[in-house]
Amino acid sequence: MPVSALPLFVVLSTALLAFIPHAAAQNCNATTLCPASAPCCSEYGFCGSGSYCLGGCEPLYSNKPTSCRPNPICQSGETNFNDLSRVQLNATKYDGNATAYDWVVNAGNLVADPNGQGVRLTLTENDQGTKISSTRYIHYGSIEFVLQSSKWGGVVTAAITMSDVKDEIDWEWAGATTDQVQTNYWFLGVANYSATQGASASVSSDASSNFHTYTFDWQENQLNWLIDNQVVRTVSKDETLSEDGSQYKYPSTPSRVQISIWPGGSDSQAQGTIDWAGGMINWQDPDYLSNGYFWNTLQSVKITCNDDPDQNTGTTGWAYSGNDTAGVPVVDVTNASTLLSASEPRVPLASGHSPLVALVSVLALALAGGIAML
Ligand SMILES: *[C@@H]1O[C@H](CO)[C@@H](O)[C@H](O)[C@H]1NC(C)=O
Ligand SMILES: *[C@@H]1O[C@H](CO)[C@@H](O)[C@H](O)[C@H]1NC(C)=O
Ligand SMILES: *[C@@H]1O[C@H](CO)[C@@H](O)[C@H](O)[C@H]1NC(C)=O
Ligand SMILES: *[C@@H]1O[C@H](CO)[C@@H](O)[C@H](O)[C@H]1NC(C)=O
Ligand SMILES: *[C@@H]1O[C@H](CO)[C@@H](O)[C@H](O)[C@H]1NC(C)=O
Ligand SMILES: *[C@@H]1O[C@H](CO)[C@@H](O)[C@H](O)[C@H]1NC(C)=O
Repeated sequence: MPVSALPLFVVLSTALLAFIPHAAAQNCNATTLCPASAPCCSEYGFCGSGSYCLGGCEPLYSNKPTSCRPNPICQSGETNFNDLSRVQLNATKYDGNATAYDWVVNAGNLVADPNGQGVRLTLTENDQGTKISSTRYIHYGSIEFVLQSSKWGGVVTAAITMSDVKDEIDWEWAGATTDQVQTNYWFLGVANYSATQGASASVSSDASSNFHTYTFDWQENQLNWLIDNQVVRTVSKDETLSEDGSQYKYPSTPSRVQISIWPGGSDSQAQGTIDWAGGMINWQDPDYLSNGYFWNTLQSVKITCNDDPDQNTGTTGWAYSGNDTAGVPVVDVTNASTLLSASEPRVPLASGHSPLVALVSVLALALAGGIAML
């Protein structure tokens, strides 16, 4: 079992806790749901309204499952990250209109790749790295990431799918190990450590200096990880059946696609995570000193949704109604609006990142790098 076997939301939320303001909203979890006055439980586990009800809103910890806006329905397409016109850089401005934006920057900064090969997601000593999320959700299909990983001890690159109830499928590149990538998955935020659930795959050439295509082929009965079109790992739904036969511990809920860079080697992480990530980050590294950040490089993401006949019949998204008798969350397609109404507040989620600093520097760097902006 890899010591890393922590779902990414735990690692990232722990890191972000340090930044939450004192006036932070109430916590939410399986036993304490959000009150009607702040009905939505954010992905970081705090109650609020408005923006809290969008992507990542945890339906089963919210006041009602329908307090969260529906998960915007999947739409096949490819984003080349040389063009940021469909990336909302200011997450606070996002109102749930997935027709207007394909991606939202949740935290951190994007910098144009100096070689014109997409964007760098950056990590500095003063932030907790960068995370971007798709505005739409995918409920089975394939996701192809073309990227270069980071390459410094303690710095982690991740390309994942994450559902609002914490089903998760991962690619993770840890620290300076650039000839390997890790594959992992979680069911409702829980890994099955007895199974070989986390596994490493070899990459044919240095993952930090060569673009490779990393694919999830996520189907209802089988999940494949592929590198440059070669299958490197397969998990069948059948083999995830719990010992008591009650649950398939298999990712089965609509998920956002997320790419991030984060500090595995920092004081706020558990020792196991620090070791897995390749030790503490060296903030005196010459690459860091000359650039002012560590980075990975994201060239493109291609999403292919499984055929969904409902997409043409006014369906807007997926909504949760609760658990089935086996304790597996139930989702159904819906035609309810995914948007916030005009009166619902656009607020930053409790996470401490300053959207102002983020946007200003992204704009400055993007203009300097000649990126096409909205
Ligand atoms: C759930 O949240 C409540 C309210 O913040 C808190 O008192 C309780 O300890 C939490 N429970 C768990 C299991 O984290
Ligand atoms: C959503 O965005 C699209 C594209 O920008 C726009 O045409 C549409 O009017 C927006 N919908 C709402 C309800 O704001
Ligand atoms: C863990 O996975 C193994 C093999 O896939 C399976 O036999 C076992 O029942 C699982 N355990 C739990 C608690 O889900
Ligand atoms: C749903 O089932 C999960 C176990 O799969 C359980 O932890 C959770 O408390 C249940 N939630 C509700 C609202 O029933
Ligand atoms: C949503 O579907 C219901 C039931 O089919 C229908 O009554 C309602 O008018 C639809 N609403 C929208 C916004 O399409
Ligand atoms: C981001 O959007 C919020 C909400 O509209 C706004 O208050 C804030 O000033 C914006 N930040 C920047 C840098 O424009």
